[in-house]
Amino acid sequence: MPHALITGITGQDGLYLGELLINKGYEVFGLVRGQSNPKVAMVEKTLPGVQLLEGDLTDLPSLIGAVEIAQPDEVYNLGAISFVGLSWRQAELTGETTGIGVLRMLEAIRIVASDEMGGIRFYQASSSEMFGKVRETPQRETTPFHPRSPYGVAKTFGHYITVNYRESYGAHAVSGILFNHESPRRGVEFVTRKISRGVARIALGAQEKIALGNLEARRDWGFAGDYVDAMWRMLQRDTADDYVVATGETHSVRELLDTAFSHVGIDDWSPYIVQDPRFLRPAEVDVLVGDASKARDLLGWRPAVDFRTLVEMMVDADLTAVRSDLDREDATLRGDAAQRA
Ligand code: NAP
Ligand code: GDD
Repeated sequence: MPHALITGITGQDGLYLGELLINKGYEVFGLVRGQSNPKVAMVEKTLPGVQLLEGDLTDLPSLIGAVEIAQPDEVYNLGAISFVGLSWRQAELTGETTGIGVLRMLEAIRIVASDEMGGIRFYQASSSEMFGKVRETPQRETTPFHPRSPYGVAKTFGHYITVNYRESYGAHAVSGILFNHESPRRGVEFVTRKISRGVARIALGAQEKIALGNLEARRDWGFAGDYVDAMWRMLQRDTADDYVVATGETHSVRELLDTAFSHVGIDDWSPYIVQDPRFLRPAEVDVLVGDASKARDLLGWRPAVDFRTLVEMMVDADLTAVRSDLDREDATLRGDAAQRA
C-alpha cells in the first residue's frame, strides 16, 4: 500500500485528492495545522481512514515529524495562503507559508530521507498566478513569469525552489502549474463560489445583492476533481517535470454571472450586482488561459467538466445547501414560537 502525505488536506484540492488516493488504495496522511482545527471532523467524515498529523508549513520540526511518521512514497504540497486578495494584507505570512513553506517541506524530506530525498516523489501546487501580467497567450510551461501579487511572487519562489531541488539533489520533484479550478467545495472568498452562493441565496429570497470587484477579469476555470487527477498522473511519470493544467478556454466574471443567473431563470442580473471598490486589487491579472497540450500528450490528461457544467453544478449545490439552512432556521423559529405559546 503506497503512502501519501498531503499538506492542505482541509482545503478544496486536499479533499478531492484524498478521495482519489484512497480509492486507488493509498494510505493517506494529512497535515493539519492549529491546536483545534475546526475542519478535522469534516475531513475525517469525507476521507474515512485518513490519518491526520499535526504540522504547519511555517514550522520545520513539525514537518520533519510528519515525514517521519507518514514514511511517504509521495508528498503533495497543497498547503498555502491561497487567497490572492489576502496576500496583500498579509504579505509576510503569505511569503512564509506559500513561498518558504515549500522550501521547508523539501528540507524536511531531505533531512529525513537524505540522498536524492530517498526517492520520495514531491508535488508542488504551483499556479497560473505566476504568469500574472502575461507575456504570451495562451500560457504554457515556457512562458516567462510576471507575478502581480505577493501570492504570485511566493508561488514563483515555490516553483523555482522545487526545480532547484530537482537539479541540485536529483529530487523527484514536480511542479504543477494549475489554472483556476473550482467546485462546490471552493472557499466562499473566491469569485466563483461567492457568485454561486449569492445566486442561490437571491433565488431563494435570502439575499438581495452581491458586491463584486472587477467584472472584466478573465480566467481559465476548470473543475477541481479533474485537476487532482492531473497531480497524481504527474507523480507517476518516471521523470520529474513541470506541467500546465488548464481547460484552454477563458471566460470573464460577467460570463460567470450570465451562466449562474440564467441557471435560476434570471436573464438580467444587473439589479442584483453592486460594484464595491473593496474587492478591486492593487494590481490585477487581467486574462489567463492555459495551453495544457504537454499534460495531454505526456499524461493523457483531459478535463471532463466544461465551464457551464461547472457553474451549474456549483449553483445546484448551493441551492441545496441554502434550502437546508433556511429549513433549519424555520424549524428553530417554529420551535421558539411553540415554546412561547
Ligand atoms: P484552499 O482550499 O485555500 O486550501 C489551502 C490549504 O492550505 C488549507 O488546507 C489550509 O489549512 C492550508 N494551510 C494554510 N496555511 C497553512 C500552514 N501554515 N501550514 C499548513 N497548511 C496550511 O486551496 P485549494 O484551492 O485547495 O488549493 C490547493 C493548493 O493549490 C494551494 O497551494 C493553492 O495556492 C494552489 N492552487 C490552487 C488553485 C485553484 O484554483 N484552486 C490554482 C493553482 C494553485 P486550513 O484549513 O487550516 O486553513
Ligand atoms: N475573490 C473575488 N471576489 N474575486 C473577484 C471579485 C470578488 O468580489 N470580483 C471580481 N473578482 C475577480 C478578481 O479580481 C480576479 O481577477 C478574478 O475575479 C478571480 O478571483 P479569485 O476567484 O479570487 O481567484 P484568483 O484568480 O485570484 O486566484 C485563484 O486562482 C489562482 C490560479 O490562477 C486562487 O485559487 C489561487 O490560489 C490560484 O493560484
